Amino acid sequence: MTNICVNKLSVEEVREHIPLTNEYIYVDNGSTTPVPIPIMEAMNEYLLEYCTNVGRGGYNLAVEATKNFDLAREYAAELLLNCKMEELIFTRNLTHASNIVAYALEHQPLDRVNGMFEYGKPLIKWEKSDKIITTVMEHHANFMPWLRLSKNLGIEMNIIEPTRDGILLPETFLEIVDENTKFVAFQHVSNSMGTIHPVKEIIKTIKEKNPSALVYIDGSQGPGHLPVDIYDLGCDFYGFSGHKGPLGPPGTGGLFVKEDILMKMAVMELGGGIVSDVTLNDWELQSEVPSKRFDAGTPNIVGFIGLGRAARYVAQEIGLKAIKEREHLLTERLLDGIRNIKNIHIYVPEDSAYIGGTVTFNIDGWKCSELSLKLAKDWNILTRAGHHCTIPLMRFLNVLDKFGGHIRVTFHYFNTEEEVDTIIAAIKACNKA
Ligand code: ALA
Repeated sequence: MTNICVNKLSVEEVREHIPLTNEYIYVDNGSTTPVPIPIMEAMNEYLLEYCTNVGRGGYNLAVEATKNFDLAREYAAELLLNCKMEELIFTRNLTHASNIVAYALEHQPLDRVNGMFEYGKPLIKWEKSDKIITTVMEHHANFMPWLRLSKNLGIEMNIIEPTRDGILLPETFLEIVDENTKFVAFQHVSNSMGTIHPVKEIIKTIKEKNPSALVYIDGSQGPGHLPVDIYDLGCDFYGFSGHKGPLGPPGTGGLFVKEDILMKMAVMELGGGIVSDVTLNDWELQSEVPSKRFDAGTPNIVGFIGLGRAARYVAQEIGLKAIKEREHLLTERLLDGIRNIKNIHIYVPEDSAYIGGTVTFNIDGWKCSELSLKLAKDWNILTRAGHHCTIPLMRFLNVLDKFGGHIRVTFHYFNTEEEVDTIIAAIKACNKA
């Protein structure tokens, strides 16, 4: 890996890399982020100078493409999650990651092992008394695959509730996890309330209660917004999207799987690039880089080269601790400015220690989508409004019928204090309207 960059990028420098910040107050970073110019340049370089396939050709350009594609996986793995490239499956997004895991939990692996083409042991040998656990806060992508799995297997799915202000607590998991719990899925950071959950403590609680329970974390709003050390967290699976915190291009994401589990997983997509042999009767999956077993077909090469560059940008050139601290500072500034507004409802944790870079709110008298459009039209403030693909949580918060969900502001490093003050002024003006 290349050396860590010493001179960190300032907010102004990052804004210069994101031209739309000249025109808009872009705070829809929970949905997707703009792609900074240096990341586009890395992608352009691939497209212009060595646009060839990976893992196939023997000529110079193809070798260069394969080398840079592998480097991109190494950067994404080490810099965003602190894991090995052998454990990082490239995915289209978090949704893809969840579905890969759901498939592997429902199917037995099929492969040639020691000369025999046979079904291997399932990751979990399900029994009717087994349970899956998830929470009411989850994005649909970390909920629907497990609901289908529980229906297909005919087993129970237990749903954990957060505190009223949106925090998942270890003690709630302590009450519900038991010897029948085989799989637990929950989020690192809430896309709808901004909570940074005590993930490490929750995983510790689960594993102490049932060491054989597998744990999947939805990290969509984590990597790129804050430092993540996957081994320290202690989960078995961790999925994320490349086009959110990491500032990578859309169509990219990743799935960490512990190496011993990865080698036992049923592979969802079959095709070229993942095998060491295929006969008329069987196949043998490659074992050199386990994560590449999930690369069937030509991958999104340009996208992942962009993701690798983005990992260096956020982790080495800005700094993940600096991003986390700045997002927190901007969030607190916004909360201080709007907390006492009459008729406002704010949906974030009360304790600042759990607050990340997101603020969600409603104002009496406004449907959230109408208010979001007004902020865009009159102030160029780009927010997301609606249920944020967390309809169960919207019902829990009781905001679906009255407001149509809520409005979400999600910051990234490039947002400024002046932008926050404009958002505060705009919200105050709308409240009078
Ligand atoms: N999952 C993305 C969001 O929360 C799209 O907005």
